[in-house]
Amino acid sequence: MGSKITSFEEYKAVYNSSIADRELYWAEQAESFDWHKKWDTIHSGSFEEGNVKWYEGGKLNITENCLDRHLDENGDKVAFHFEANDPDEGPRSLTYRELHEEVCKFANVLESKGVEKGDRVAIYMAMTPEIAIATLACARIGAVHSIVFAGFSAQSLADRIQDCDAKMLITNDGLQRGTKLVPLKDISDEAVEHCPTIENVIVCKRTENDIDWEDGRDEWWHDLMEDASSEHEAVEMDAEDPLFILYTSGSTGAPKGQLHTCGGYMVYVSSTLENVFQVDQDDVYWCTADAGWITGHSYIIYGPLLNGLTGVIFESTPMYPDPGRLWQVVDKYDVTHFYTSPTAIRALMKEDIEYVQQHDLSSIEVLGTVGEPINEEAWHWYHDKIGNGKCPIVDTWWQTETGGMMISPMAGITPTKPGYATLPLPGIEPALMDDSTKEEIKGNGVQGDLVIKQPWPGMTRGVWGDEERYMSTYFEKYPGYYFTGDGCKRDEDGYYRITGRVDDVLNVSGHRLGTAEIENAIDEHNKVVEAAIVGYPHDVKGEGIYAFMTCDDSIENPESFKKEIHDLVSKIISPIAKPDKIQIVEGLPKTRSGKIMRRILRQIAAGEGDDLGDTSTLVDPSVVDEIRAGKAY
Ligand code: PRX
Repeated sequence: MGSKITSFEEYKAVYNSSIADRELYWAEQAESFDWHKKWDTIHSGSFEEGNVKWYEGGKLNITENCLDRHLDENGDKVAFHFEANDPDEGPRSLTYRELHEEVCKFANVLESKGVEKGDRVAIYMAMTPEIAIATLACARIGAVHSIVFAGFSAQSLADRIQDCDAKMLITNDGLQRGTKLVPLKDISDEAVEHCPTIENVIVCKRTENDIDWEDGRDEWWHDLMEDASSEHEAVEMDAEDPLFILYTSGSTGAPKGQLHTCGGYMVYVSSTLENVFQVDQDDVYWCTADAGWITGHSYIIYGPLLNGLTGVIFESTPMYPDPGRLWQVVDKYDVTHFYTSPTAIRALMKEDIEYVQQHDLSSIEVLGTVGEPINEEAWHWYHDKIGNGKCPIVDTWWQTETGGMMISPMAGITPTKPGYATLPLPGIEPALMDDSTKEEIKGNGVQGDLVIKQPWPGMTRGVWGDEERYMSTYFEKYPGYYFTGDGCKRDEDGYYRITGRVDDVLNVSGHRLGTAEIENAIDEHNKVVEAAIVGYPHDVKGEGIYAFMTCDDSIENPESFKKEIHDLVSKIISPIAKPDKIQIVEGLPKTRSGKIMRRILRQIAAGEGDDLGDTSTLVDPSVVDEIRAGKAY
């Protein structure tokens, strides 16, 4: 661990000096890690050029910082408790020494299969310790991991593998989430059929479902691990060598592969976790995300291990076998730091309070939220019922692209306000921009597009294979700034409150989805002429998916048509992208240039269709009345 900020006064002083001399601040943060060789330059490059680098010339391996350096003093400390889907499955914990051994063994397995530094490896797995072992083993040999959330379809998996030309896929036979079995190997087989770059598929056994097998390509994890040596010398990486690619949805086209590199990411996730959660060595830290999302990368796998903490890997869902599961797990492992999504909180607060009261939550010291705005009601419930009115809540704002938390309270240090991510972390300088003038909005009590003014070590270094998209998405709208895609308020106290996306990206249950992706999937239906997706307020998911569509045939049975649309979207993207509502319309509101006026659709979807403002730019304003009068299924 580095040096933690311990008071609000200290935060303000450190913040100011970190902005005055960013390089000094980030050099200090990097000191406490094991480097084979220190960096030549702390920072170079700019947003304008899209060539930001940190700690260049520094040599390291992130897994030595996650594992090896803890062995002498903390080898017997638990690195991960594993909580299986079935609450009655026997206990399993891995100490730092055991995790180190497993990672070394699997690193040797990967090398024996010909995986080399720089090769891409796709990981499509259940939430068991093996997903962390596979991830860390890649990092240990310098292979670039690309984890794909195990809720994505075969087609989505194939798209991601193809985009980065992955050489290997690591998966399970299946996974059990709640009562549902997901046949990961079958899905992988379907994907790999379209992925000629995949040479090997390693299958980790987790379920009892029957699977197909292709000799020569498929191998069992346990067979390969049997004879693998537990000695492995980590491959030396440059700070700017790629660590991983993680795909995330944007406002247009297919998901983009965000590239993160070794040194800056390591320093950033470690120091943000320490400061925001104010962790100590004997804490038990549990983030309920899935390793397939950035939250899981940064704050289940890398951040806690870098800080030498005891973490929890949770395979199940908050509702299984009953809505008390999260609280039962907190009680079981005496969790001190608990990090979850506003969607989970909103879903659980609808349940009987007995599900909370049955469990002893007195171990909790800090609560966190991430991924979407949290409404005040949910914030208060979390604070009062889970934190017993005494635990600070850290509402952490960040993105796949930022690598780690950016705007957030520091637990117990920053005075909080419900719904506010509060203040920027040291080294992070946010600003609000005026969309029409492209100028910075100064002062307090204002609202605008959220941008970041200076590079930070954890930021994305590129969109895999598409530099042009990297530049146009993040650096074009406001030259000289990083554009987040979020809208934001800064109140009279200078506190930041994220208001949601200002682009065509939806945030459904904290999952980021592009409207264009879903529209393209729906357009594949042979009866659909054109679809337009918008988000609308949803009391549990935060945002629901509303699909307007024109069809070339009359639809006799809208309910079964909706099911067809659901099946199609699940097949092409994932069940998480299924529209909550569909409405078949005669025409979509379009401008003369053919652009769909989503503002109008958003207002109608939100039930605010009575006052639509100026619709005179529409080619056919009468479609609006028809849509307003229509019915959603
Ligand atoms: O809109 C913001 C929202 O989630 C987006 C980033 O999504 P993703 O890359 O999937 O990463 C999610 C986990 C870090 C942001 O652009 N978001 C994230 N955190 C918050 C948030 N919105 C409001 N409050 C937050 N704390």
